[in-house]
Order: sequence, then C-alpha cells, then structure tokens
Amino acid sequence: MDAVTGNDLNIRAGLGSAHARIAAAEGLRPLAGTWGKQVDVTVENVARSFGDTAALHGVSLKIASGELVALLGPSGSGKTTLLRILGGLDFPSEGRVLFGAEDALGLSVQERNVGFVFQSYALFRHMTVHDNIAFGLSVRPAKRRPAKAAIKKRVDELLDLVQLTDLGKRYPAQLSGGQRQRVALARALAIEPRILLLDEPFGALDAKVRKDLRRWLREIHDRTGHTTVFVTHDQDEALELADRVAVLNKGRIEQIGTPDEIYDAPATPFVAGFIGETNALPVRVESGKIFLDDRALDLASTGEADGPRMLAFRPHDIEFTGEGAGGIAGLVVSELRHGATRRLAIEVGPQRHRIEIDVGAETAGQKGNRVVVLPRSWRLFSPDAFRG
Ligand SMILES: Nc1ncnc2c1ncn2[C@@H]1O[C@H](COP(=O)(O)OP(=O)(O)OP(=O)(O)O)[C@@H](O)[C@H]1O
Ligand SMILES: [Mg+2]
Repeated sequence: MDAVTGNDLNIRAGLGSAHARIAAAEGLRPLAGTWGKQVDVTVENVARSFGDTAALHGVSLKIASGELVALLGPSGSGKTTLLRILGGLDFPSEGRVLFGAEDALGLSVQERNVGFVFQSYALFRHMTVHDNIAFGLSVRPAKRRPAKAAIKKRVDELLDLVQLTDLGKRYPAQLSGGQRQRVALARALAIEPRILLLDEPFGALDAKVRKDLRRWLREIHDRTGHTTVFVTHDQDEALELADRVAVLNKGRIEQIGTPDEIYDAPATPFVAGFIGETNALPVRVESGKIFLDDRALDLASTGEADGPRMLAFRPHDIEFTGEGAGGIAGLVVSELRHGATRRLAIEVGPQRHRIEIDVGAETAGQKGNRVVVLPRSWRLFSPDAFRG
C-alpha cells in the first residue's frame, strides 16, 4: 500500500456490532425461530475473467454471520460479478468461496439457499403478492415443503415485516416501485436464506423513496440478522446502511472497513476521492517537515521519507489560521452555495493549485479575499498512487 497515514490507521474487524444490534433488538417481534441457520462467508483470492476482461483480480473478503456488508464501487468495478459468484450464478476462474467451513463452489444454487434481490426484480406478474412471496417455499420438494397453512402464516408474517400487511391479494402491477422491491425482499427472505444478496435493490427508485427504504432495510436487518451483502455505487447508501464497506475499484478491493474507517481513514487516493470529496495538494516532505512550495506547513509528519507527496484533506475539515502560521494561503476565486454550507474555491501559490473548502452559509462575500487555512485531519499519498 502506497498510502502513508497522517493519523493512526486503525482497522478493526468490526464484526461484533451486528450481533450486538441483534441482541439490542430483542423485544421486537421475532419471526419465531423459523430462519435458516446463518453462516459466515469467506471469499479467498477470487478471480474472474470474461475473455480478455478481468472482472475480479484475487478478491478476498470475510463476512461474519449476521453482518451487513456493502460492496461499493463505480460501474464495472466487479460488484455484480462477485455477488453472482456468491450466489452460485457464476463461477470464479480461481479462488475459493466458503459458507462456514463448507466449500460453496461445490453447491448448486438451491443448495446454497441464498436470497436474491436485484435492481429490477421481475416479480411474477400473473401471481398475487402473497403467491410471489410464497413461491420459493411452495416449489420445494414435498418432504421439505411446509404445509399450506404454515406457508400462509409465514407469508403473512413477512407481509407485516415489510409493511404491506393488507396488500397480499394485489398483483405486482398494482404496486408502486418501492412496494414491489419490498415484496422482492419478502420473497427473498421467505426461503430462510443462509445469506441475502442484494444488487442495487433500490437503484431504480427516486431519491426520497430510496432513502426511506435503506433505513427500513437496516431496521429489517437488525430484526432478522441475516448475513447480507448489499451492492451499491451510492456512497451515502453504503455508509448509512452497512456494518462494513468493501470498496471495489477495477476488480480489486481497495479497502474494507467500518463506515467511519472508510470515510475518516481512506487507505488509498481512490477511496478518498470516491467516498466523499477530497482536496489533493502537491507537497514535499523534507526532514519531517511538509513543504508547500517554499513554505513549511504547520503539520507534523513523523517518520516520512523525504520526497514528493499529495496532501489529501476534506473540504469541510479545515480551520482558518492567521498569516505566517504555516498555513495554506490562497485567494478565494469563487463561492457557491452548497446545501447548508458555502463552498469556496481557493487558488494556492504561484502554480495556482486549486482547493475547495466549506464554510458556514452565513460567510458570504469572500470572493477576492486572501485566506489561510490548515486541514484538521489529512493524509499523505504518493503522487503515483494518486495517478493510479
Ligand atoms: N458476462 C460477461 N461477459 C463479458 N464481460 C462481462 C460479463 N459480466 C461482466 N463483465 C465485465 O466485467 C466487469 C465487471 O462487471 P460487473 O457487472 O461485475 O460490474 P459492476 O460493478 O456490477 O457495475 P455496475 O455498477 O455498472 O452494475 C465489467 O468490465 C463488465 O463489462
Ligand atoms: Mg452491477
């Protein structure tokens, strides 16, 4: 890893949190011990190529039983490919997938017993909501199929869980998009899946519904405790929903961590830029000091080798300092209202490097002023890593 940290990179496994929440959710109505046994999932050096295109290069990932992990990355980064391999819809060219201690690659889709929800899950149009949800149970071989009454009871419980209590008799065409995705989730949960795989389940919905549904999904997860892998390219969705986030880029996992770790301590420039916004200012390290042009910044960089670096920091994570205090000085060249804050663009130094900072919305009329700022938290990356 090329990244050099400005503060201590403390990657914790973060595996305990899901269990803690399930315990905390006691008192909510459980679905009566009917859930399938949850397993932890191990992905070891999984690679997948399609002809000349390498979709995944040696991806490794361990998901604890009951954990909700988001796979986050731009289009084409390999998220769906990894999900399909977990579900048995596709197979790796190399590597292993374990469910608990069991080799999952030797199991059929049915044997893996996973619940899938896709972006536009085609519900069966000719079947009622009730029958859609019941489908996975009613097509089981006779000896594993629950009695009719038991299936109905389970479907009713699931309709309550996804807050569609009275809509069992409707057909999919009579539902909104958000309601359909809730039916799709109920259908995936009905089979008592060992893991739940969700591929951009809210991708086709408008922003407000999407936000509501992800909070709701988090609550459902806290109540049911399914080992869940959730694919998204939406940073906010991943940070809000997941116990841990795996950031994919070009078929590789760049970082796995809790939302706080990913946001506050990005391991690579890609992660820093993809999750939240980041400034990147070319600087130089000399004898433990960080120089911007010929000015030593008031930032300590112990243990850094001499040489060029990129100083990365968030627009909101700065403070104003006085002149001469080793700050980053520049000229405000534009200001834009940005939600609750105001975004200032600043040109720094003779080379006019551009950075952006966020100030309170009340701080208007800064354009043309000279300001001096210092990042409160920051990281140094090698310039090569930044180009990567
Ligand atoms: N069946 C296939 N045949 C050929 N190439 C494929 C196939 N499936 C995926 N790929 C390629 O593998 C790479 C990863 O695709 P994948 O669908 O996993 O990306 P993704 O992260 O899910 O993207 P998106 O956010 O757009 O859904 C892409 O370059 C894609 O073109
Ligand atoms: Mg995809």
